[in-house]
Amino acid sequence: MKRLLLAFFLYSFTLSAQSNFKNGFNAGYTQAFCLNKSNCNVKVPKAPKHDENRASFKDGIDLGEIMGTVDRLKQIHGSDYENLVGFSQLRLINSRISFMENKQLYFIENDIETAFKIASASKILNRAGEAPDQYGPISQQHKLLVARYKSDYRRYQRDNSVAKSSGGPTNIGIGPIKNLNFKKLNPAFVKAGENTFKQKCTACHAAERKLIGPALKDIYKKRRPEWVINLLLNTTEMLRKDPDAIALLKEYNNIMMLNQNLSEKEAISVAEYLRTL
Ligand code: HEC
Repeated sequence: MKRLLLAFFLYSFTLSAQSNFKNGFNAGYTQAFCLNKSNCNVKVPKAPKHDENRASFKDGIDLGEIMGTVDRLKQIHGSDYENLVGFSQLRLINSRISFMENKQLYFIENDIETAFKIASASKILNRAGEAPDQYGPISQQHKLLVARYKSDYRRYQRDNSVAKSSGGPTNIGIGPIKNLNFKKLNPAFVKAGENTFKQKCTACHAAERKLIGPALKDIYKKRRPEWVINLLLNTTEMLRKDPDAIALLKEYNNIMMLNQNLSEKEAISVAEYLRTL
């Protein structure tokens, strides 16, 4: 008996260590689907993908309960269930589901690919940006990105990858940055870069309009990331010696962009942020 207990203990321990969220989801789903009755055999669907380390047992229960309720209602009422349950109630349930799904996205702020997978699997990404930002500004930024591309990860990749050498810009400019290729968009850098941009650049730059300096949307269609960062870190020399910078200076009637004294990390973050404009 003792051994059995121990085995059970170890078993449940490894289970919860493996996936709190999945266990929560199974429990919540079963409970809701079975209307709290025991002796009810139910095939629990696969829990949506999530970050194992951050989604909690409670998150699993919340989502499981809602999905279990909906599936049970469908089973009882068939295709009529929308009418029977009442439209507004159903909307409420659906919005709670999407809230939970959105919430899953918050847990995976560092992995935008997974975010897209969840968003496209659920086909819902409701009201991004409207809900209060419970999980911090980086996640919010991340979620907005996913929302903007409406779970179309291919288009996101296309828009966020730098033009490859064929036909794309090649000049890397003059300065400390010799080789930099953008990878997956880094939401933490984007957020930091946005702050710097607001403090130090918006006096002269906007995304879509010329101000004192050029509009910066789509900048990487014509400039290498190295060139942009070198312009930020080594402004004076770039404007004096780099042919593209000299041409630009001429175009802007010799209005010099001032060196903003950014650190290398700040410059890279701003460069990352510019990708999202
Ligand atoms: C005092 C105004 C001013 C400030 C502040 C300023 N810029 Fe500029 N920027 C310009 C001007 C003017 C140009 C055009 C080149 C020139 O004449 O110096 C330019 C050019 C650029 C270019 C090249 C654009 C192109 O079409 O190739 C980039 C990129 C850029 N700035 C980014 C930034 C960033 C990022 C910041 C903030 C860290 C910033 N600038 C701050 C005025 C400014």
